[in-house]
Amino acid sequence: MTFSPAKWPRRLRSQEWYEGNSRDTIYHRGWMKNQGHPHDLFDGRPIIGIMNTWSDLTPCNGHLRELAEKVKAGIWEAGGFPVEVPVFSASENTFRPTAMMYRNLAALATEEQMRGQPIDGAVLLVGCDKTTPSLLMAAASTDLPSIVVTGGPMLNGYFRGERVGSGTHLWKFSEAVKAGEMTQEEFLEAENSMSRSTGTCNTMGTASTMASMAEALGMALSGNAAIPAVDSRRRVMAQLSGRRIVQMVKDDLKPSDVMTKDAFENAIRTNGAIGGSTNAVIHLLAIAGRVGVDLTLDDWDRCGRDVATIVNLMPSGEYLMEEFFYAGGLPVVLKRLGEAGQLHKDALTVAGSTIWDEVQDVRNWNEDVIRPVDKPLTDQGGIAVLRGNLAPDGAVLKPSAASQHLLKHRGRAVVFEDIDDYKARINDDALDIDETCVMVLKNCGPKGYPGMAEVGNMGLPPKVLKKGITDMVRISDARMSGTAYGTVILHTSPEAAAGGPLAVVRSGDMIEVDVEARRIHLDISEADLSTRLEAWTPNHEQRESGYEWLHQTHVMGADTGADLDFLKGCRGSPVGKDSH
Ligand code: FES
Repeated sequence: MTFSPAKWPRRLRSQEWYEGNSRDTIYHRGWMKNQGHPHDLFDGRPIIGIMNTWSDLTPCNGHLRELAEKVKAGIWEAGGFPVEVPVFSASENTFRPTAMMYRNLAALATEEQMRGQPIDGAVLLVGCDKTTPSLLMAAASTDLPSIVVTGGPMLNGYFRGERVGSGTHLWKFSEAVKAGEMTQEEFLEAENSMSRSTGTCNTMGTASTMASMAEALGMALSGNAAIPAVDSRRRVMAQLSGRRIVQMVKDDLKPSDVMTKDAFENAIRTNGAIGGSTNAVIHLLAIAGRVGVDLTLDDWDRCGRDVATIVNLMPSGEYLMEEFFYAGGLPVVLKRLGEAGQLHKDALTVAGSTIWDEVQDVRNWNEDVIRPVDKPLTDQGGIAVLRGNLAPDGAVLKPSAASQHLLKHRGRAVVFEDIDDYKARINDDALDIDETCVMVLKNCGPKGYPGMAEVGNMGLPPKVLKKGITDMVRISDARMSGTAYGTVILHTSPEAAAGGPLAVVRSGDMIEVDVEARRIHLDISEADLSTRLEAWTPNHEQRESGYEWLHQTHVMGADTGADLDFLKGCRGSPVGKDSH
């Protein structure tokens, strides 16, 4: 930790708008006064933007306006001036074609809202999957002092006495219906038990993973990730974060001070320990690209390889976020990593202290939920990065969610050209497929879908499910929901729509996967592969205008985080010209 706080008092960027008595200043202040703000609020105190991803159509973040009031209270208490700013909210459960396509748009819009307005620091009020990375990307690109407050997970769901995990049980119930083990009426009854309160998915899905990533990166106060949305301590966390951001502005403690390479390595190891979502790979690569940290897919494999999963949460385990919180939450995991020599203890956090300072005295209150290191859920908690002629730029797999017997496998490819082709044929009993086959899905990557949808965990064909088989090897350039599971190889790069080798796989080809050796291989000759690639022409839908065109034209590969090429990097927060 090498951070030295800046001197205070000093002139802040917001004073470019509000200081003095020029015509422009009077114009800016005068308008703000129509909200009843006294004159002395414009005296140079930190102005804090509460970047709020609340939306009625992002139900996971539906309670963030209430939480914003607590953030405001904290900012006032610490002598700051809070301003709440609604920002683009990319909801996982409503946006089409996929919320992922809008992560970059949300990051772009938020970045410009932060830079173009009189804000000295920001509270990133987030929750649902894409809202956390998009705002972290914006903060990284502006490098304005920022602190993350997540909305927190929903309470446990229960159906007929059993825990129901968001997403995880949607897939399970849906497959049970297809296999004839559950009626449609029971499925509808279960629907009502899935979302018991406000908040994000209650599994260790992408939202909980990204909340944990924010905390492991040092961008949220310790303990933030797991507090349930409706627990009073969530509101306390919001208020404390509001207090803290004011001091961060005074100290000039910026995202680039916190999100260092060490911090990213801490986050990668944390992801392994929590059994976190594969989506974290893409988001952390994108955030690192914004803040100027050289992070690669190989860092994911290198750092995560020896990390055991110790958090026993769905989809890999049996409990939910509520129990994780009662057991002590992420600080316990970070402490365990530190004790195992797998944490950069000196990494700085938004609290102004080291991450080890924050966690070294915490206790584990339930060793079935957060396991001791010698009794892990799985030894291989990290994300495995596979390479070979089928994925020269890499593909990822989450070993903790996969079936052990499929981690080394050779099988006949059954190819679906795109998601519509998959949907049209998967339920056909005439489809030539059995459980030894490898399901291959193309054109679902960043350019191809477009947006890289969470369809990589293709449901199995009913005729296989009816045999009691629950997993097969699946390969695609898509993503997978953090709540999903299976031997699912994702993010295959380059993607099919960019002419990667995935594009030329044919049904009947043999594919070899060896996770231990980190290998994925299309068993055809080099000459045959070259001939096929030379003859390849794109067959995905190319958009002609609008944001989808911008996205398809500029999105980079999943192996570097699927950001837009012109948004990579930190542009800082220079104060632009005044137009008045
Ligand atoms: Fe929004 Fe899971 S769908 S948090």
